[in-house]
Amino acid sequence: MPSSPIRKLTPLANDAKARGVKVYHLNIGQPDLPTPQVALDSLKDVDRSVLEYSPSPGFLSLREKLSGYYSRFGIQLSPDEIIVTCGGSEAVLFAFLACLNPGDEIIIPEPAYANYMAFAISAGAVIKTVTSTIETGFALPPVEAFEALITPRTKAVLICNPNNPTGYLYTRAEMNRIRDLVKKYDLYLFSDEVYREFIYTGSPYISACHLEGIEKNVVLIDSVSKRYSECGIRIGALVTKNEQVRDAVMKLCQARLSPPLLGQIVAEASIDGTEEYAAEMYEEYVERRKCLVDGLNRIPGVYSPIPMGAFYTVARLPVEDAEDFCAWCLSDFEYEGETVMMAPANGFYSTPDKGKDEVRIAYVLNKQDLQRSLIILEKALEKYNQVKR
Ligand SMILES: Cc1ncc(COP(=O)(O)O)c(C=O)c1O
Repeated sequence: MPSSPIRKLTPLANDAKARGVKVYHLNIGQPDLPTPQVALDSLKDVDRSVLEYSPSPGFLSLREKLSGYYSRFGIQLSPDEIIVTCGGSEAVLFAFLACLNPGDEIIIPEPAYANYMAFAISAGAVIKTVTSTIETGFALPPVEAFEALITPRTKAVLICNPNNPTGYLYTRAEMNRIRDLVKKYDLYLFSDEVYREFIYTGSPYISACHLEGIEKNVVLIDSVSKRYSECGIRIGALVTKNEQVRDAVMKLCQARLSPPLLGQIVAEASIDGTEEYAAEMYEEYVERRKCLVDGLNRIPGVYSPIPMGAFYTVARLPVEDAEDFCAWCLSDFEYEGETVMMAPANGFYSTPDKGKDEVRIAYVLNKQDLQRSLIILEKALEKYNQVKR
């Protein structure tokens, strides 16, 4: 299995910290905002004598709340169509294990969230990628590129929308193209929509669940990690109107017994009464996005498209080997006792040599830290290009 491109350079960051260098983490998508107070309070109010297993598909009360939550986005689901998982991560793994046989193929636009690769390998499935490019802002590659990869083993298309790592948001026309492809070849559509709250352009959010005619093909991956700043409670969901898929997923759920009990209590408390929280969070990310993207594009030789959603961007740097540059920032560079850690983007591509001069940057730091990171990045690029030439 490949190492995570997000964590690959961690030993170098630890060494830098041990030398007393402050490291700004632009590499990881762990939101820094406080978790909603109602969620924290629900944990304090836990009044149980036994912290027991919960039902394998998750508490009915949570699934009912989730059903109400999805209806706010125009997605009508009964609680039975929602299975609570141990994070979106387990939902991805269970979707692969339930729908694919070893050797089956999934087509994914790259760059892509790197853990899909690890889960596909765990399920014996094979990932085939169509490449989206920075020049088009990482728009959906043409349908012909997907069709060129279709073989008798192709069973699914996977999209992440809004996208990690690119921040791209698929348009209605693009979603319709995906729908037509899925329908034509009768494929599963795995749609990872864990960033639906993070859409900044006013463009409509088109869920895979909004697409007509492929209701039974869609498996939605969801998570509370990002939208409520609750990465540690490990609660996600696998949602599908396909009963056979649910039956297969339930066998896996029964084998792992139960999703986290305390996490479900917190997730349930977070669904209602967090509108103000969501609005504040949204404003904060709008400003951070502007601060980061404007700042990046002001640095000579750096280019970042304007991401429409999530809290990442993939930027091109004026270096030949971004992985070497990211490692060098941690091992050989500091500016006034500080440096930056970024994720080299080549780890998000499976095509060799793609993304070699790109990095993924997460904007989950406050604006002051982001501004400081941009100054450090500019100094680092200047120095690196002097040293390397
Ligand atoms: C696109 C995407 N999907 C799924 C996940 C998994 O999230 P979790 O397991 O915390 O729900 C992440 C986490 O970063 C992600 O970025």
